[in-house]
Amino acid sequence: MSNKENWGSRVGLILAMAGNAVGLGNFLRFPVQAIQNGGGAFIIPYLVCFLVMGIPLLFIEWSMGRFGGRHGHHSTPFILDSMDPKRVIWKYIGVFGIFTNLAVAAYYCYLESWTLAYIWHSISGSFSGQTSAQIASFFDNYVNLQGGGFEPVIVWLFCLALNTWILSKGLSGGVEKVAKIGMPLLILFGILLAIKGVTIKAGEQGAIFDGTVGLNFLWTPNFDSIWSAKVWLAAAGQIFFTLSVGMGSIQCYASYVKSKDDIALNAMSAGWMNEFVEVVLGSSILIPIAIGYLGIDKVVEMTQSGGLGLGFRTLPYLFQQWGDTLAAVAGVFWFGLLFFAGITSSLAMGTPCMGFLMDEFGWKRALSMDIWSRHSYFRLTHRIIL
Ligand code: ALA
Repeated sequence: MSNKENWGSRVGLILAMAGNAVGLGNFLRFPVQAIQNGGGAFIIPYLVCFLVMGIPLLFIEWSMGRFGGRHGHHSTPFILDSMDPKRVIWKYIGVFGIFTNLAVAAYYCYLESWTLAYIWHSISGSFSGQTSAQIASFFDNYVNLQGGGFEPVIVWLFCLALNTWILSKGLSGGVEKVAKIGMPLLILFGILLAIKGVTIKAGEQGAIFDGTVGLNFLWTPNFDSIWSAKVWLAAAGQIFFTLSVGMGSIQCYASYVKSKDDIALNAMSAGWMNEFVEVVLGSSILIPIAIGYLGIDKVVEMTQSGGLGLGFRTLPYLFQQWGDTLAAVAGVFWFGLLFFAGITSSLAMGTPCMGFLMDEFGWKRALSMDIWSRHSYFRLTHRIIL
């Protein structure tokens, strides 16, 4: 058997694979992990983990995917099975490559829907003239489904429908098109926000520190960190999350490569693009802006509860310091880049499920979408057991 479906172009493949890796984690999780683990203390273990663990895992997962694709398989249960057909255990281990995606997508799509709602609220001026407490409680009410009617549920359903519709268009007709539009826009929005973030001047527009104070906090290496197991664990966890390794989505995307494609070069291109977005852009927006207005101690304290608070409760308020128009533009850029980061990752989480249903049941894409959304858990389990 050979591949019936392939990526339309090499650029499309690299952007889709980079989009799989670049996600909410690059902009919300990475800066918070860095802050919680001592700023510059985090960077050395992080980069070492990327080189000694991330890159080899990328090569392994791309190779597994291409091997499985050559045998007509695009989901990990059967990719692993085709690698060692004599040992049935691999098929069962491969099941994690479907359910891990489902587990992450289950919360990820909801967070993605928040970014859509916040784009709208930035444009419509919902945060204009509000105090920091009011903007924070707007977020609390939104996530607690209080006061705002059914908006969070409706936007979430819309987001799920959008993901489903794009997946139904296929790889080159759907996923690849979104990556080709979304990734360049994400990088453009990120660069513009990063420039604004690092050029914040103490004493102007309410800032108490220069934007470079946050950058220095992150980028001043602390060699003592190499003795801390906690920092290494956090760094390794971030590498797994940001590269989307160990999930089954890379194997799935790589199973659709053409046989002449250079997977080593493609894996490096997508992996390094993710690192550029995470390390350069991810460290130049949230941290410099937040520390510029709030100071290091306050930001360290605020990140104890994670990055969502800083990204959704605090940043929209800090944008207001730049005036109504710039605040609206910054809101669209910030939540827009989070949306593109999110959707290019959630599409990658949906593709292994599609591949499984299409390969193993012989269903057409539209039918497998339909069936998937109705009763696929039962069928999937049944098919694997039999
Ligand atoms: N790799 C994706 C992210 O960083 C899941 O958000």
